[in-house]
Amino acid sequence: MVKGYLVTGTDTGVGKTVITAGLTGVWRRHGVPAVAIKPVQSGAVLHSGDLIPEDVAFYRLAAGLNEPLDELNLYRFAPAVSPHLAATLSGEKVLPARLVHFCREALRRHRLTLVEGAGGLGVPLSGPQFTVADLCRELALSLLVVARPGLGSINHTVLTVSYARSYGLEVTGIIINGLRPEAAGPTEKDNPGVIETMTGVPVLGIVPYLPGVSVEEGRARGLVDAVERAVDWRALLEA
Ligand SMILES: Nc1ncnc2c1ncn2[C@@H]1O[C@H](COP(=O)(O)OP(=O)(O)O)[C@@H](O)[C@H]1O
Ligand SMILES: [Mg+2]
Repeated sequence: MVKGYLVTGTDTGVGKTVITAGLTGVWRRHGVPAVAIKPVQSGAVLHSGDLIPEDVAFYRLAAGLNEPLDELNLYRFAPAVSPHLAATLSGEKVLPARLVHFCREALRRHRLTLVEGAGGLGVPLSGPQFTVADLCRELALSLLVVARPGLGSINHTVLTVSYARSYGLEVTGIIINGLRPEAAGPTEKDNPGVIETMTGVPVLGIVPYLPGVSVEEGRARGLVDAVERAVDWRALLEA
């Protein structure tokens, strides 16, 4: 039985949070008590004196999670930079052992847990010696990779999968996110097949651009329906 995945991206801003929230919402709709956690959040926003981890706020909104913020996020920093630097700028330190313990507790408590990384696989969490890839390896999780639909995405996705394998990590699937139907040209049509051939990893879904969705503005209209339609979420339960 799959206990969880680490959700990474080919880059920052590719839609990890949107896909994580959408998948969690779909599973919960189908009776699987899934949760999503964001162990380290940089670029957290200040709301009446409290730092709010934006990604977690979005999971709660989109997937209907009721867990308190502190159960879904451990470290949060205001500077919108790589976690290791955000911690330093905030006069704090990310401790790998604490981070791993936090994630393991979530994985132990819940039937299915998605762990959203930060940026991509090579991003330092505590520093160069402990990256998102290291966290994934410590947790013994398989990866879901979120990728962009357009030009540049073959290269970024192939590099991400290759880097994952060089770390001994398994990649279960790739999800292409943010396809604008009006912008779908030869590249967008060709990419999924080429990515599958070059990586040997299945593309488990192509999620369209959704005008009703914004992480920053706290809007999730149509997200769970769209992910339910576009992503092979059942395969991820059985993988
Ligand atoms: N399918 C989508 N439709 C509409 N907006 C999207 C979609 N995917 C991502 N976005 C927007 O793109 C931005 C980056 O997405 P996000 O999920 O936060 O990326 P990441 O977690 O990888 O940094 C956010 O503003 C989000 O609302
Ligand atoms: Mg995110």
